[in-house]
Amino acid sequence: MASDQIVDQVQSLNDIVEVISAYVPLRRAGRSFKATCPFHQEKTPSFMVNPDKQIFHCFGCGVGGDVFSFLMKYERMTFPEALKRLAERVHVPVPEFKHSSPEERSQTERLYQVYSAANEFYRRNLKDLELGKPARAYLAKRSFGESEMDIFHLGFAIPEWSHLYEFLSKKGFGEQELLRSGLIVRSAQARTYDLFRGRVMFPIFNSQGKVIAFGGRVFGDETPKYLNSPETPIFRKRKELYALHLAKRAIPTTGEARRILIVEGYLDCIRLHANGFQNAVATLGTSLTPEHVQMLKRYADEATVIFDGDKAGEQASLRGLDLFLEEGMGVRVLCLPKGFDPDDMVRVKGKEAMAELIGQSQDFFDFKLQVLLGRYNKSDSLGLLKITSEFLDTFSKIKSPVLVDRYLRKLAVTLGVQENSLRSELNKLRAKLSGLKSARSEPRPLAAELRKAEPPLEKLLLGLVLHYPPYLRMFQEVFPEYSFSGEKTREIFNLCHQMIQEYGERELSPSKLLNRIKNEESKTFACRLLMIEWSSGTDREQAFQDVLRGLRGQERAGRLKTLRHQIVQAEEAGNQELVLKYMKTYQELLSKSDSH
Ligand code: GTP
Ligand code: MN
Repeated sequence: MASDQIVDQVQSLNDIVEVISAYVPLRRAGRSFKATCPFHQEKTPSFMVNPDKQIFHCFGCGVGGDVFSFLMKYERMTFPEALKRLAERVHVPVPEFKHSSPEERSQTERLYQVYSAANEFYRRNLKDLELGKPARAYLAKRSFGESEMDIFHLGFAIPEWSHLYEFLSKKGFGEQELLRSGLIVRSAQARTYDLFRGRVMFPIFNSQGKVIAFGGRVFGDETPKYLNSPETPIFRKRKELYALHLAKRAIPTTGEARRILIVEGYLDCIRLHANGFQNAVATLGTSLTPEHVQMLKRYADEATVIFDGDKAGEQASLRGLDLFLEEGMGVRVLCLPKGFDPDDMVRVKGKEAMAELIGQSQDFFDFKLQVLLGRYNKSDSLGLLKITSEFLDTFSKIKSPVLVDRYLRKLAVTLGVQENSLRSELNKLRAKLSGLKSARSEPRPLAAELRKAEPPLEKLLLGLVLHYPPYLRMFQEVFPEYSFSGEKTREIFNLCHQMIQEYGERELSPSKLLNRIKNEESKTFACRLLMIEWSSGTDREQAFQDVLRGLRGQERAGRLKTLRHQIVQAEEAGNQELVLKYMKTYQELLSKSDSH
């Protein structure tokens, strides 16, 4: 991670009003600016940008944050991406990779350059009237035209040993870096040659649109049919999806239609794009991974996974799809008729037929049920057991109780078993899993949802501290041992405490603090507290005194309750001496006025 100083510097040079104005027309409203919210549909503006605190907040849908959060939400960037963009805006140099040395960074930068140069080279070959002929003939035979070649930057590696190698060497790339890229390889006999020869080239872009790898297809039946460039520091195939850089622009930011199509082949994906399905991506010869789903969630709410006709019931695909449910993303499945892949389907039957099939795609639950019913016999007890345990596995990962409820009912009916017995099996499984999870102590989003609400007094106190950091010290003088029961409140308090040590209580601005909160949910929470306005210093001071009084009352009530409990226990144990001792403390505490 870039150092906190750089983050602070980038933040302070980028005025939030200027940055947001570039996306949303802002109108002045008192000390703040307002607009209709870009994150939800509304008629009257409830989106506020506060230049003093350098934050935004929407009273309609509750989103909020600092200038980084705005870009992350609006442009759907990760934090490092937003940091980079804003740093460029104000010409602040930012180290690019987390823990990398300058040397590694320049190596990564060189890799991008190698891939970009190779891409231009392959493209030029394909366009070359002489050299490109066979490849263009192949693409034409498969009915792919100029526009697909341009949109997807298709290229051609001619059938020679060192065409690319010579080109890149002339461009000034050294042998070592070329070998590192994997596009140039060295044989056991120490001969250096091109990895791709005689193949149509499909550059693979990352979500930012940079070339990071290639797939290459032979023209005929030779094997391997596809060859992929190897994994490098810039290419992890478990994380990347073909055409995501295009699909992300085709998916709307809000509304109902945030849907993505996932296919298996490059050419399937290209065919879909060429026929109006620009929301299609392809996996890169791996099955779907949690990293994929995490990334897709940034752009879409629902995925439709399209399987070729002959691959329908694969166990692997079923397992892969559970991932979506686990991550809270909707998933539907479309199995094409036997013998068809998406490319064939669109080419032979037309895009309308394809659209219709997509419309008829099955909810993952129904699909899985159908596959399992085909595989096992539900009327024999072993088969029944297999089917139920597969499903309960899936259910245990679904976050929405409403969905689980609906599915359980449906499953019970289909299998002819009692809904209650399924439910109790599920609960057992969940208990077991949650034991495992807490042992791994991995914070789950589910836990976040169920987390109990933040106590109001603690929230108010935090709001005061965020506005006026010296309150933290004043509070700690009165309550040196206070332990916060709200999880977010505690987290942000600790952070405030730490940052006050670092910056001094007069220097800590809300925006510096927000920068340091990495969890978006907590950041929004802090922002909401920052939107509270006190009309004057006296007003604020009054609120602070109220909080202290309230917390004192709560603390006292808590101690009284504990004492009552101890008295009962001592009585049950027959320990009169202890009973008397507790009674005395109890009386003393009761008689003490709560506003000392
Ligand atoms: P066409 O036969 O050209 O229509 O390709 P396809 O997309 O229909 O191919 P297929 O369904 O056979 O494969 C789907 C995807 O799996 C491809 O896009 C590749 O990513 C990958 N793949 C297929 N064959 C190979 C192979 O031989 N080697 C590797 N590494 N990947 C392959
Ligand atoms: Mn195909």
